[in-house]
Amino acid sequence: MQLHKSHIISASQFTDTNVLSSLFALAKEMEEKDLARTLAPSLQGKLLAMLFYEPSTRTRFSFEAAMKKLGGDTLTTENASEFSSAVKGETLEDSIRVIGNYADVIVLRHPEKGASERAAQASPVPLINAGDGAGEHPTQALLDLYTIEKARGNIDGAHIALLGDLRHGRTVHSLLSLLALYKNITCYLVSPETLALPEEYLARLSASGAQVHIAHDINEVLQVADVLYMTRIQKERFADKEAYERVKDCYVLTKERTLDMKPEAIIMHPLPRNNEIAPEVDSDIRAHYFTQAKNGLYLRMALLQKILIA
Ligand code: NCD
Repeated sequence: MQLHKSHIISASQFTDTNVLSSLFALAKEMEEKDLARTLAPSLQGKLLAMLFYEPSTRTRFSFEAAMKKLGGDTLTTENASEFSSAVKGETLEDSIRVIGNYADVIVLRHPEKGASERAAQASPVPLINAGDGAGEHPTQALLDLYTIEKARGNIDGAHIALLGDLRHGRTVHSLLSLLALYKNITCYLVSPETLALPEEYLARLSASGAQVHIAHDINEVLQVADVLYMTRIQKERFADKEAYERVKDCYVLTKERTLDMKPEAIIMHPLPRNNEIAPEVDSDIRAHYFTQAKNGLYLRMALLQKILIA
C-alpha cells in the first residue's frame, strides 16, 4: 500500500507493518524537529479542508496544528451539520465534490457509518475518515499504535485489554485491525454483554491468529494487560437513554485498581473520558493518555506529509 494520494477510510487498508513502521519513524522525526524548531514548511501552499458533522477537540485541532506546523493551511467549519449547505439539503457527495476543488485533502467526521467511503468515491482529492459513526477512526488507531510502539519498543507479543463500549467505539474497531497485523497478540475484550464487539471485527481479529478472550469484569484483566485501553460509553449512539444509564459507569479505573496492574503496563484512552479513569490516576507514570493525544499531532503530520508529498 502506498500512502501518497490515498484515501484513508479504514484501518483494514493497512496490510503491511513496514508501512506503519515508516510512518512511525517519520512521526518521531517530526517530533524531534518540532522540539528543535527545525521543521521544514513541506506543505506550504497546500490546503486541508475539515468537514466535521460531529463534535471533536483532539482530532480537529491536531489535524489543524499538523497542517500549520508544516507550512500548510486549513479551511474549516465549526459544525458542518449546522453551518454547511447540508442545512439546505445538499448531499454529502455534492459538498465533497465542491470542497475537493478548493482543498488538497479533506478530513471528514460524520455520524453515519460508511459516510467516508461514500464521500471518498465523490472526492477528487484524498479523503481521511476522522470517524464515521460507530464505524471506524483509522487515524486514531494509527496514533494509538504509535503510542504503544513508543512506550513498549515493539508491538509483537503484547497483551492488550480493551474495555468499555466495544460495540460503538470506532477507535477500538480500527485499532483491532492494526493489531491483527502483529505477531503473538493477545486481546482481552471487556464489555457489558450489550456492548460487545460486532461480529465483523471479531471475525477479522480471530482470523488473524490473535488470541482473543472475552470478559465482562475489569478485575479479570488488570494483572495480565500490558496495555489497558479504556473507552467511553458512547452516549450519543444510544436510542434508549435508560440503557445508557445502566452501563455508563461499568468500568472505572481507580488508583486502587492500578495497584493490581503490571509496573510496566500502559494506560491508554482515546479521550474524551467521562468516569472511566479517575483523575487520581493521571499522575501514575503508566498513564499515557495525554501523551497519546500529543502523539496524534506528530502522527498526523507524518500522515499528511506522506499523503500530500510522497
Ligand atoms: C474518539 C471518537 O471521536 O471516536 N475521540 C477521538 O477522536 N479521540 C473517542 C470518543 O469519542 O469516545
